[in-house]
Order: sequence, then structure tokens, then C-alpha cells
Amino acid sequence: MRENPVKIAVLVSGGGTNLQALIDAQESGIIKSGKIELVIANNSGDYALERAAKAGIKTATVLKKELGSAEAFEQKIKDLLTENGIEIIVLAGFMAILSENFTKDYPKRIINVHPALIPSFCGKGFYGLHVHEVALEKGVKVSGATVHIVIPECDAGPIVLQRAVEVKQDDTPETLQLRIMQEAEWKILPEAVRLFCDGKIEVKENKVYIK
Ligand code: GAR
Repeated sequence: MRENPVKIAVLVSGGGTNLQALIDAQESGIIKSGKIELVIANNSGDYALERAAKAGIKTATVLKKELGSAEAFEQKIKDLLTENGIEIIVLAGFMAILSENFTKDYPKRIINVHPALIPSFCGKGFYGLHVHEVALEKGVKVSGATVHIVIPECDAGPIVLQRAVEVKQDDTPETLQLRIMQEAEWKILPEAVRLFCDGKIEVKENKVYIK
């Protein structure tokens, strides 16, 4: 068992309710072997930044518009991660797709929460509320959330945890989104981070084994 907690960065793009679930899990001692050292947002004014500041966590905003290119945007994030000695990166509602040039530098060290049961309703263009709109259009009776390891192919990395959530007949994309967050995302994301920080995750041939 190592003495110092694993240094975690959380990347966000919006309201940050998943970030909040991580902060709460840290404060209540569910995540003991890891510590959120840095929150990076890719939009200014994200409410997630306020949540981080309230919890006393260092924040940074990285804007692609200001930096001029996707390469410069990713390089800036990498620099921040290196400067802060980050070991694990959590994408918690982060809406930018990271290129292979980025992900290859952090093998098995980036995890993402996706608001559907992968391999359903995932890949390029499937993010945020749109995922739930398509799920309802398809008439699925069950949806849910997935935490997976990030590889260059979008939403295709090894699955760490999943939780199913019932779809109700009168659901709107908004009610389904909220129920999936409450019943699945806010539970399995902190649990996956805990498993990572405790060294309980093993990846073999694109599959996760929990020790
Ligand atoms: C969450 O539902 C998350 O799963 C989703 O965006 C929402 C962010 O909410 N992420 C994606 O769609 C990424 N593919 P939050 O900012 O309140 O955590």
C-alpha cells in the first residue's frame, strides 16, 4: 500500500454533478487512496469550477478558441497534468474528444463516464442529452451508465463498471438523464475511481478484471 494518495485530475465541461459525486465520495472517505488535485474545464463559467473551488480544489480553464488549435489545447492540458503530478484522469462530463496523440500518453490511466450502456448509444456524436433522446426514440426499456477506460477509439475502451436503469413510459430525455445520473453515474463513477486508486483494476485483452 503506497503512502501518498493517487493524484487525480477531473476534466469537465458543464454542470459538474459527476465531479460533485467524486468530491462527496472523497469527503465521506469512500475514495481514500486518491485525491482530486486538479479540475480542468474547457468552457469558462462552467458551474463545475465553482463546485471545485468550494471544495478547495485547484482549477484551470483551457479554451480551444484561445489556444487556436486542437494540438495546442491538448498540449496545454498535458502540461497542467504534468505540472501537478497527475496519475489518473477522470473525464466527468467532458465533451471534447481527446486525440490519440493525447490518450497514448496515459495508457489505462484515463476513465470516462458515459450515460448509456455501452455498446449502445455511444461513439462520436453521442453525448449529453442527445444520448437519452436517441434511447427514447428507439424505445429501449432499460438504459444506464458505463465507466470505461479511454482508448483512442471513442467510447470503445475496456468497461470497468455498468449499471442499468429502468426507462419509464412517460420519460422525457431530461427525466431519463436525471434518473440515470442519480441511480447510476453518481454511484459507479466514484466506485470506479476508488477501485483504480486501490489498485484493484487489471486490464487484459481489452477487458477489465476487478481484483
Ligand atoms: C453526464 O450525463 C455524463 O455522463 C455525460 O454528460 C453529463 C454531464 O453531466 N457525458 C457524456 O455524454 C460524455 N460522452 P455533469 O457535468 O453534471 O457531470
